[in-house]
Amino acid sequence: MRKKVAHPDVSLLRYGIRELVELAQKLQALIPGFRFIGENIGDPVAKGWKVPPFMKRILADALEHDDAAFAYTHSRGNIQTRKWVAEYVRRHCPASRLDFEDVLFFNGLGSAIAVLYQMMAPGARVLQPLPGYPAHISMERFFARSECIGYRTDPERDWAPDMADMERLVAEHPEAAAILLINPNNPTGAVYSRETLEAVVRLAERHHLMLISDEVYFRMVFNGSAHVHLIELAAGRVPLIVLRGVSKDVPWPGGRCGWMEFHNTDMDPDFRDFADSLRKRMLVEVCATTLPQIVVPRIYDHPEFAAWLDSNNRELEAASNRIAALLGSTRGLSVRPIHGAFYMLPVFKEGVLNSRQSLPIAHAPARDFIERAVSAPGFPPDKRFAFYLLASTGICVVPATDFESPLPGFRVTTLDRDPDRREKTYTALSRAVEQYLASA
Ligand SMILES: Cc1ncc(COP(=O)(O)O)c(C=O)c1O
Repeated sequence: MRKKVAHPDVSLLRYGIRELVELAQKLQALIPGFRFIGENIGDPVAKGWKVPPFMKRILADALEHDDAAFAYTHSRGNIQTRKWVAEYVRRHCPASRLDFEDVLFFNGLGSAIAVLYQMMAPGARVLQPLPGYPAHISMERFFARSECIGYRTDPERDWAPDMADMERLVAEHPEAAAILLINPNNPTGAVYSRETLEAVVRLAERHHLMLISDEVYFRMVFNGSAHVHLIELAAGRVPLIVLRGVSKDVPWPGGRCGWMEFHNTDMDPDFRDFADSLRKRMLVEVCATTLPQIVVPRIYDHPEFAAWLDSNNRELEAASNRIAALLGSTRGLSVRPIHGAFYMLPVFKEGVLNSRQSLPIAHAPARDFIERAVSAPGFPPDKRFAFYLLASTGICVVPATDFESPLPGFRVTTLDRDPDRREKTYTALSRAVEQYLASA
């Protein structure tokens, strides 16, 4: 090439959740009969959740009777659906004055997240939760061309944000323009209390910061918690962007449909300009896929949706509590029950990991491969565990350091619907942790 084309900052894009799938594929090619047990990706359908029949009927009906589902739609999103979003928000948050023109549809939240950070002014930074979701962390640091600035969340307080750390970062980083919250949280399963959210709003208000709230799991809350809408607390106080989508609760991750809501746009001309810049950016891409947008209101307002969601949440609650009990009784791990979403992040207790531990891998070429991989300089200790676990048992978990966690651990999903298989997987995982820790 006469001019270099590869971007120099591509190393800032990291997504361990899917990188592990490549490792699993490599092991599958090496080890005859290798059985992959994927506890890494948050896809309810891939983990056996049934798409509700009423949703299939809505889709079939749209395909049969609505040719508009095959056409381009408005570049900012189907107008009827954006009006429905604004009305739905006002129904649940009476303080909201969301206008449908401030709702933008994307091909999944992943795409919304990329565009959000791409359109930020050079030098403006967004504080990320640690551990955090790699799409936010990667895209923010890629467009900022610099490592992420992250605030700690505290496993001893059900993974609530460490407000002292957040305050310190705001003071030390005048370039911080916004704070990201993920609530309910991926990867910790935390659901933030009203008091926590109020403290964040107060901080943002005091320092003229924007809040970004990723609420893709807002309907998936249990174990006695309730989702508090940040919109209610932020109304008239701070500029707020809320992110939602259909990937998790519907569940339709392959639909690639997510949206962004700009709340309180009248508060600050710079925030208004930012919203307008995203609207302009969207024109350039013509539009996001039409079909999911057309059916979104029909799905969420369907009379069977609430009961269907409720039964899923009850299952998630029972499954996650069982997993918390199994992993919680494992020597060397510290585990919190979760209150929302479908992830749990067990943490290794201080000092239990070292760089000599291993698990038996019967197949010699696979063992050589893993030993070579984990001996790379600076290889994180929890990633070392995840690699051995995968090669030895087939169980695929994501190391906590792939979520930029300051504490070593691993993330599992709580999505498995088959109680026997779940029991087997998590009993095997618990034993593997103890065996690994005892190995050196
Ligand atoms: C917190 C969070 N935000 C956004 C996304 C991306 O969702 P989508 O499937 O709409 O791209 C995910 C997916 O796992 C997520 O966990």
